Amino acid sequence: MHMRQKQHFIDLNQINNDTLNGLLSKAIFFAQNPSFPKPKTEHLVASLFMEPSTRTEMSFKIASAKLGFIHVDLNADRSSLKKGETFEETLHALQTMGVRSAIVRTKDENLLKEQQQKTEISLINAGSGTSHHPTQAMTDLLTIKKELGRTTNLKLAIIGDIKHSRVANSNIILHQKLGNELFLCAPNGFESPQTGKNIHHVDFQTALKEADVIMLLRVQSERHDHHKITKENYLLEFGMTKERLNNLRPEQIILHPGPFNRGVEIDPDILSDTRVKIWKQVENSIPMRMAILDWIINGETNEKLTN
Ligand code: CP
Repeated sequence: MHMRQKQHFIDLNQINNDTLNGLLSKAIFFAQNPSFPKPKTEHLVASLFMEPSTRTEMSFKIASAKLGFIHVDLNADRSSLKKGETFEETLHALQTMGVRSAIVRTKDENLLKEQQQKTEISLINAGSGTSHHPTQAMTDLLTIKKELGRTTNLKLAIIGDIKHSRVANSNIILHQKLGNELFLCAPNGFESPQTGKNIHHVDFQTALKEADVIMLLRVQSERHDHHKITKENYLLEFGMTKERLNNLRPEQIILHPGPFNRGVEIDPDILSDTRVKIWKQVENSIPMRMAILDWIINGETNEKLTN
């Protein structure tokens, strides 16, 4: 049986645009064919989540099940990592047991890149520190494609705690690759250090006026202790209120990777507005993660996306 070489998915800078477009196309296929039959395989996929997660962890598990893979979980808090075993040794132990792909969430910015040459396991980044969350950015791209019908010629506003957000960073990388314009708006102390041809640092009003897509970010309270704005003031200054929503155009969409802080980044009373696509992002995470797993494991992306 042909065994595909290892293929990591750690940082979107390492993935070429043809592959990104192929993944999007494949995800659309999976979304449109939810009962696409896949034969059971012996391919072992492991989850190693060393930070909390609901969406990413569960959607990868569901995606694995739909693709017919065997999915095992390492509970990091009950693992030998707690007894001083290194991450490298942990991966080696899993590899020895037959695991060929590992989905990893870590607070360590460099862990996955340090391991990518050392391990024979394909590593999929499920969120690393404040740097990368590539599969979330791809999920967001699928949502944009389904809602707006295109992935280029876009203006994307990213609002909030950009400095500590791996989702923001991966989206910035992705939309720079696609040639889209980025409008970044953050409270004092949460600004992005990113600069570039298509990156504009703007105030909230400008971001809301310019954007086709408005991406709100969770205040990452677990990653800093210098949050000077109260929850109430955050909503008033940087949150999506009823008043701001009422001033948006009908075709603008609002994203948030979740989980959201109710009444901080968004007024919970507007969650049911048709322009708010937060639960669509969760729904789209399954076909997108199916496409990523299928590519990592079987090397399949096939179709090209036309904008
Ligand atoms: N968006 C995201 O990564 O959510 P979880 O932390 O619930 O996985």
